[in-house]
Amino acid sequence: MEKNTPIDFKTVKQKIQDSGLADIGFASIREIVKLVNEIEGETNQKFIRMEMGVPGLDLPEIAKNAEKEALDKGFASKYAMIEGVAVLKKEISRFVKLFLDIDIDPKCCVPTVGSLQGSMIMFLVANRTDASKEGTLFIDPGFPVQKLQCNVIGQKYQSFDVFEYRGEKLRDKLESYLKEGKVSSILYSNPNNPSWISFTENELKIIAELADKYNAIVIEDLAYFGMDFRKDYSQPGKAPYQPTIAKYTDNYVLLISSSKSFSYAGQRVGMLAISNKLFDRSYPDLKRYFVSDKFGYSTIYNALYSLSSGVPHTPQYGLAALLKAVNDGNYNFRDDVMEYGRRAKAMKKLFLANGFKLVYDNDEGHDLADGFYFTISYPGMTGSELLENLLYYGISAIALQTTGSTRSEGLRACVSQTSSERYPELEKRLIQFNADFGK
Ligand SMILES: Cc1ncc(COP(=O)(O)O)c(C=O)c1O
Repeated sequence: MEKNTPIDFKTVKQKIQDSGLADIGFASIREIVKLVNEIEGETNQKFIRMEMGVPGLDLPEIAKNAEKEALDKGFASKYAMIEGVAVLKKEISRFVKLFLDIDIDPKCCVPTVGSLQGSMIMFLVANRTDASKEGTLFIDPGFPVQKLQCNVIGQKYQSFDVFEYRGEKLRDKLESYLKEGKVSSILYSNPNNPSWISFTENELKIIAELADKYNAIVIEDLAYFGMDFRKDYSQPGKAPYQPTIAKYTDNYVLLISSSKSFSYAGQRVGMLAISNKLFDRSYPDLKRYFVSDKFGYSTIYNALYSLSSGVPHTPQYGLAALLKAVNDGNYNFRDDVMEYGRRAKAMKKLFLANGFKLVYDNDEGHDLADGFYFTISYPGMTGSELLENLLYYGISAIALQTTGSTRSEGLRACVSQTSSERYPELEKRLIQFNADFGK
């Protein structure tokens, strides 16, 4: 390998060795973050950081001000109600009506400590509704922390990479798992982290039909709500609406994160919206763990209670104010987060011009949206090799194999931390990379 690299070759090599990571291609996001922090510290050079999905935008003022006001009113000394403050529950219910075109009562809309708490709660509840079943089927690639959550509570799970199973092919593949009778819930994110694929209406219909046939609860993770920028899903009460499983089944819960769409990651406030029918549904097997056999009751007063006893007051009021502005048409969240789409478009172009290929590149024949993530490979390199080689050129990412993807040649690149001033540097580094490795 050419040793004259943009970031000092020896230092990077040494830091990789010191990290103790046997194969960098299996390093978690946080491990890569730590490694790159150390290389940056030692070399005083800045990376193009594409490993972690941190929002790169500021929290809107409306939310900040509402949080301050709540603090000034003295809420910090009081316990918040576990089911959430009424004003937020109402705005979540309005939000799902106005942006998904579905009806969910405020009582079934529950704030959670980030939407990650929502998935943990659902593993605790949805996966215990039927004693004869085992756990979640993940439609991968996916967010590794959710599998960690299953491991932490000792639940089994299954998963498959959807890469080869788009469109009608999804039906047989999904059914091959469901017919074994062990799947209590099905989880996927849409748009998808890490691949940025988005399921089509046809695919959502297939998932819903099979979930109903085999009585599995669909956990739809909308962590990147409205961020498939090919369409404008941001006009309250007007089509097109963010596609959702809720159009096709009653057997669903929605995890709606405020971290990315509203740049609200740090306050750890997310939303769990449970279908009205599922909320009131009785599952006698729940009584093995909870005081009630009701899905909604167990979710709020047993699972959420035992994890954190609800969500702090101030972010609830902040999110309520923000949602109210969005619902009333006074704040368009898409206008802000569209920036990620612009970045992805520009950065993908630079990678593709320098010998890289996209790994996940279409939704049933349509080009993927430009958004928070994209996936890349470089001919002749495994994902581990590519990840390491890019570090010498001052570019960091994570390997797709850590996300349940079978594309072991691929990396996930996140655009959120790279603004346009850094494009010339990215381009220079990629040109040198391609000159050093290109055939
Ligand atoms: C697919 C997916 N689900 C859930 C989350 C977690 O979101 P939150 O910050 O609301 O807990 C993320 C965050 O990156 C994500 O990518």
